[in-house]
Amino acid sequence: MGKRIAHIMSCTALLALLATTVHAGPATITRAAWGKMSDGRAISLYTLTNTHGMQVKITTYGGTITSIVVPDNKGQMGDVVLGYNDSADYIKAVNNTYFGALIGRYGNRIAKGIFTLDGKTYHLYINNTPNSLHGGHYGFDKKLWSATPFHRRGTVGLTVRYMSKDGEENYPGTLHEKVVYTLTNDNSLQLQYTATTDKDTVLNLTSHAYFNLAGAGNGNILDHFMMINADRYTPITKNLIPTGELATLSGTPLDFRKATPIGARIDKDNVQLKNAGGYDHNFVLNQQGQGVRLGARVSCPRSGRVMEVWTDQPGLQFYSGNFLNGTNIGKGGKVYNKHYGFCLEAQHYPDSPNEPKFPTTELKPGQVYHQTTIYKFSVQK
Ligand code: GLA
Repeated sequence: MGKRIAHIMSCTALLALLATTVHAGPATITRAAWGKMSDGRAISLYTLTNTHGMQVKITTYGGTITSIVVPDNKGQMGDVVLGYNDSADYIKAVNNTYFGALIGRYGNRIAKGIFTLDGKTYHLYINNTPNSLHGGHYGFDKKLWSATPFHRRGTVGLTVRYMSKDGEENYPGTLHEKVVYTLTNDNSLQLQYTATTDKDTVLNLTSHAYFNLAGAGNGNILDHFMMINADRYTPITKNLIPTGELATLSGTPLDFRKATPIGARIDKDNVQLKNAGGYDHNFVLNQQGQGVRLGARVSCPRSGRVMEVWTDQPGLQFYSGNFLNGTNIGKGGKVYNKHYGFCLEAQHYPDSPNEPKFPTTELKPGQVYHQTTIYKFSVQK
């Protein structure tokens, strides 16, 4: 009798599990038409699915990640990145959110939009007064990328490419950029960037995905526990430009070496938090120059979802969605209010072209820019 009850119970548990989880199957990638650029060129949306049913959508508009669907600790699938319903919403997006986009040529700010290279001064578009932000007026996030899907050893991926002409947005050199997105079967999304130039230039590439591990639009991220593998950061002025100092995080409300809820100290009376209206700081990751290592680990108590960021980059910009203000109506009509998402942008330090002590962001002809960043998802109880 006991055995029978145990058998019925295990069948019930199995049925419950099947009802909430996506069936395992081979990894797939599909393409769909996704509207048009203002000049009529067709935009595509690719859907990558791994063997566990994790699903990532990437559009050729901005090489943008529009959705990442992963299980919570009960097996329920949910979309954990902020984004819009369709390409028209991305194109007309207000409030410069850069949801999910590939950023270039220069991620984050260049002070007053000015830098000097080989004795020549370059003036960039000021789109974030008084600075130039995320590549200027029409950064890589607003460009149409070409895309090639691939299958490799049981995984799927998408290679996206963009060629930026010499002088585009006033940056020197014709730049060829390639990003290989690979969705692995351990629920990781890997981004491998390469770029080359035909003239000396500066370059700082990143991905601007906003995450909410409780599901996009499901409240704010202040309860998420954040751990960042950094002992130091680059303090900023009121204009969000680094002062040039590499300061210790010890004793500050920006110290995330121990996992701490994002909201625990965000309102502390601290000049750095006031300058940014929350967290919007570049963390100087530990183990510099040693290849890909853990940059950050975030966990959400509501869903049990965990995300790790692994990167070979020197810095990680932790942005707590301070400028989200409810004007952004996202997928499924959900409103994104302040702190409804966080970004962890693996990159070089902001304003490096004007800070000779920071790791260089110069790229010369014959050199190849490389970056590897991985977003790895799992669950905990
Ligand atoms: C980055 C910046 C923020 C903000 C967002 C886009 O994360 O550091 O200050 O500009 O991009 O809104």
